[in-house]
Amino acid sequence: MPAALPSVLLATSEVAPLVKTGGLADVSASLPAALAAIGADVRVLLPGYPAILSGMCESRTEGRIGPSAGLPGATLLSGRINDRLRCLVVDCPELYGRAGNPYVDGAGADWTDNPLRFGLLSKVAALLCGAASPLGWRPDVLHCNDWQTGLAPACLSFDRQAAPAVAAAEAKVTATVFTVHNLAFSGSFEPALLARLGLPPESFSMHGLEYHGRLSFLKAGLYYADCITTVSPTYAREIQQAPLGFGFQGLLAARSNRLFGILNGIDTATWDPATDPCLAGRFTKDTLDARAANRRAVQQRFGLEPDDDAMLFGVVSRFTEQKGIDLILDAWPGLAARHRLQLAMLGSGDRLLTDAAAECVRRYPGRVGFIGGFDEPLSHLIEGGCDAFLMPSRFEPCGLNQMYSQRYGAPPLVRATGGLADSVLDDASATAPRGTGFVFTGDTSAALVATVVRAFAAWQDRPRWRALQAAGMQRDFGWQASAASYVGVYRQAIAFATASGQATARSSSRVRTDA
Ligand code: ADP
Ligand code: GLC
Repeated sequence: MPAALPSVLLATSEVAPLVKTGGLADVSASLPAALAAIGADVRVLLPGYPAILSGMCESRTEGRIGPSAGLPGATLLSGRINDRLRCLVVDCPELYGRAGNPYVDGAGADWTDNPLRFGLLSKVAALLCGAASPLGWRPDVLHCNDWQTGLAPACLSFDRQAAPAVAAAEAKVTATVFTVHNLAFSGSFEPALLARLGLPPESFSMHGLEYHGRLSFLKAGLYYADCITTVSPTYAREIQQAPLGFGFQGLLAARSNRLFGILNGIDTATWDPATDPCLAGRFTKDTLDARAANRRAVQQRFGLEPDDDAMLFGVVSRFTEQKGIDLILDAWPGLAARHRLQLAMLGSGDRLLTDAAAECVRRYPGRVGFIGGFDEPLSHLIEGGCDAFLMPSRFEPCGLNQMYSQRYGAPPLVRATGGLADSVLDDASATAPRGTGFVFTGDTSAALVATVVRAFAAWQDRPRWRALQAAGMQRDFGWQASAASYVGVYRQAIAFATASGQATARSSSRVRTDA
């Protein structure tokens, strides 16, 4: 008989489609759905933002969580996000009752009480894995994601240390897995918050929560979790060295036997060009002509000339240093002078970059379009309408858009980093079974220019381009293989946690005998 699948509590700060700022939301919805599809008992733990409270169904109260240290009390709710996703929600209006972006205020500044907001989320995650849980359900694995839930593995470990006899008597030890989606966000705060979060003062050390004199939620996850994963094999290697380790490379290299890189999958039902309601024309690899309606719709939405002979590039991105948007804007004047190209960009983020994009539109009317903001349906239309997709990220833990674009017949142009290197096969590669896009090295606009010119030449050879599109559309980016890899990591984490639980039990029984 096959071994039972581990039960999982996946703690996260965003989930698609209700609250999304980036790929974390997509993964927080699609990984649990994939695990549930193979029979695992998975529940997603979320903060009770207004969009979650109004978007969840079958909501019921599970219990009250009392105030502790400087944290307010909360109510634990259970319900569903959709028919595939069971959820648990921390309802605390004082901390989560704010609409819009979950991390920043209307002016784009971080909410000053973020450490309390995500401290509470982490503490509740740990609570649900211990004897004090109000639920009659204990997960085998607590799976945390990014700094917002990084404190949870630490809290679980402190709870066990504080009551070793209780921990030793427990029938089951919950193992912890911490997934790094982006090491650039470390959740670092004033050490004074230690007391407000009810964390043991002795944990503020190099061998604990301290990172350069501050309390780091990210370090907590990296240090205390039984296993660490990140979202692509290449990024797992890159973060064990500077500069992409962002200062955590030593810790990550020291824990490399517990660090695994698993490429994200995508939700192939939501992202299916044959059925996507956001498209003007739906299509498959055999009906690529139907893409023309999307292309026209993109040109129209972005104020571009209805030019069939210009190669149309698409961008859907957070506008940050990470994504290499500046490389695109720097490359554009040289490219536009020599080639018949168009550019449609959707995104929001750093003011300097969005201003530069708006300036580019003014200089190249009818050739360049920029729409600021977050627009999910428009992002689908761009993937289904542009000729090629630009993603020259300086680093990219995984990246989802390059997978969406391959599935939507828009070959991506990417830098060879992180998940981009792991998911795009270069058109010219001798080893690839068949190219699906264009991969370049170096982080200069000159490298990007050369790659755009290469792609433009390929695009003008229409049968060759169709073969490239079809090769990308045939790739399997579904979750099946990666969900199985997560199950493997969960089992390893359980083995590590059980071994350390037995060690704790032995030492606590020794203490009792000695006394
Ligand atoms: P990251 O999480 O670093 O932003 P990913 O490629 O993993 O990068 O995921 C980004 C997700 O957010 C994708 O689903 C992408 O389509 C979406 N996205 C990013 N910016 C926008 C936007 N302005 N409007 C709509 N969707 C966006
Ligand atoms: C992060 C990364 C991105 C990744 C996403 C989901 O936001 O920047 O590369 O795809 O998380 O894991």
